[in-house]
Formats: sequence, structure tokens, C-alpha cells
Amino acid sequence: MSDFVKVGTKADIAPGKPLVHDFDYDTVVIFQVGETYYCIEDVCSHQEVELNNGRVECDEATGVCRVECPKHGSWFNLESGEAMNLPAKTAVKTFAIKVEGDDILVEEPDPW
Ligand code: FES
Repeated sequence: MSDFVKVGTKADIAPGKPLVHDFDYDTVVIFQVGETYYCIEDVCSHQEVELNNGRVECDEATGVCRVECPKHGSWFNLESGEAMNLPAKTAVKTFAIKVEGDDILVEEPDPW
């Protein structure tokens, strides 16, 4: 079971201002939407493009929030990592996240 690692504090992140953190084996990005935080791998599953500067939007009817790859426009579900449209076909990794006081902690990626 992976450990949770502090990646920053609430002051380091805001809606529209994601937080990027480098682990040894993965770089992750945390997005804040309202009071909710989502953590995904910071690389598109189509090509090696960072997702941290992608557009984020939520469907008010379903509550599904997603980020758009800035290169070719695939959207990824921020909760599940699912690729929602082509050209990306596979999900990006997601990571458990929790808040303790002002600290933001992310489940450390496995080294494989
Ligand atoms: S690099 Fe992300 S959709 Fe192509």
C-alpha cells in the first residue's frame, strides 16, 4: 500500500491554478474545482504532453469534471482518468488525495 506524501498546502493551489508535483517515477497534477481536489498523472496518454495547462470544466447536470489535453483536444475524466474522446484511447492514472488541515497529500505512485 502506498504512502500519502505532502505535495503542498491549500495556499499553493486554486481553481485555474493547478499544482504540479514530481515524484521519482511520475509527475502528477492536482486540480482544484470548487472545494474538490483531483490528482492525475501529468501526461496525456496519447503523446508526451503535459495536462497541467489544459482547460478544466464540469458538467453541472452530471457533476463530471474533466481536463482537455491542450495538443489534440482529448478530454480526461478527472475522477476516473478515462479518456472521453479520441485521439487518446487509454486512461491517465489517477491518485488518491486527501487534505489534512492546510496540507494536501497525494498517494505516492508505485514505482512501476
Ligand atoms: S497529445 Fe493529448 S490528445 Fe494528443
